[in-house]
Amino acid sequence: MDKKAIISSLQLSQEDLLKAGCFDTNQIVKIIEAALVSFKKGEIIFPDKTVQIFDKKTQSRINCLPSTLLREKVCGVKWVSVFPQNPALYNKQNLSAVILLSNIRDGFPLTIMDGTFISNIRTAGIGSVAAKYLAKKDSKVIGFIGSGEQAKMHLITMLSVRPSLKECRVASLNPKNEEKFIREMQVIFPGVLFQGTKSDLGKAVIGADIVITATSAQLPLLKKKWLKEGVFYCHVGGYEDEFSVALACNKIVCDDWQIVKHRTQTLSLMYKKGILKDQDVYANLVEIVSGKKQGRQNPMEKIYFNSVGLSYLDIAIANWMYQKCLKASLGKEIIFQKEMIFSRPDIRRFIKS
Ligand SMILES: NC(=O)c1ccc[n+]([C@@H]2O[C@H](COP(=O)([O-])OP(=O)(O)OC[C@H]3O[C@@H](n4cnc5c(N)ncnc54)[C@H](O)[C@@H]3O)[C@@H](O)[C@H]2O)c1
Repeated sequence: MDKKAIISSLQLSQEDLLKAGCFDTNQIVKIIEAALVSFKKGEIIFPDKTVQIFDKKTQSRINCLPSTLLREKVCGVKWVSVFPQNPALYNKQNLSAVILLSNIRDGFPLTIMDGTFISNIRTAGIGSVAAKYLAKKDSKVIGFIGSGEQAKMHLITMLSVRPSLKECRVASLNPKNEEKFIREMQVIFPGVLFQGTKSDLGKAVIGADIVITATSAQLPLLKKKWLKEGVFYCHVGGYEDEFSVALACNKIVCDDWQIVKHRTQTLSLMYKKGILKDQDVYANLVEIVSGKKQGRQNPMEKIYFNSVGLSYLDIAIANWMYQKCLKASLGKEIIFQKEMIFSRPDIRRFIKS
């Protein structure tokens, strides 16, 4: 058999990623910072994503997001489904994803892997990179509107950069989900004081040092009057805060404003209505990470962070996880092709016409 003809891939499940030690929030912060700088240096190809929306009202969609890490010689794609009605209709999670990586030496596939965990940890990871530079160092209280997968992952990554957090409040559409959030998170963080609010959104965030909205709503849920001086607000979902929230903030920082402004998040809507201008956005996160601009400058600043989601970060994280799994000999090899099709002596019997 000609080994060079084999096309195979390493299949990596979420279980493999966990066993390989990939749930490492400190490492995720480092990878995200390095990838942001690498993109700025032109070392990453990042084409537009392809979006297929199946329901305009619910925004149920499947997106195809490619990018290439030129230095690492890896090209990848995330295939991600977002079905916001899933929890209510099927008692299933909203987001599911797979990631495919190929090398760019001969273009052959390297791995096909779980992308749900990667996608969630990437979103929460960039939020925590932002918090590292923009949240008060002595932040004590974190408040969530939304208690889903993103909210939980954000709590984990936020605590890794702000271990001073002692209290977590949460408000959700359905109080049962607040209870689930608390049940699941209390096991991980027994030292944190958790408080549900029976869907009282204000109660969750008034007086909080870090506020996170991670909802599937398209409503101005977060009110300006609830935010105290010195707050770090991390916006994860779509339209979920009053326009006056951003206007009241001293700094607005994005993962990438040029991308954010053309989407459908609160800041994007404000930009399209002419309420927010390019010059109102203080920085892209990479400018702060690389030291070009300062992060938080005093304890009174209210700072707004919006991430739209940069899929080259998913690919950078996926590549690191793939390497870790390889080293740990985890995963299952799947063979797509054993020999080139016309090298098969028996090929004639498979041809129908
Ligand atoms: N910025 C990014 O890069 C990025 C990446 C992934 C997901 N997201 C977005 O983050 C959001 C959350 O994702 P998820 O996976 O956690 O979803 P999820 O379905 O697990 O959770 C959604 C949460 O929103 C809450 N919610 C919905 N309507 C509400 C309302 N009116 N009032 C209060 N709470 C309400 C629900 O109770 C639930 O807790 C989604 O909008 C998703 O598209 C953003």
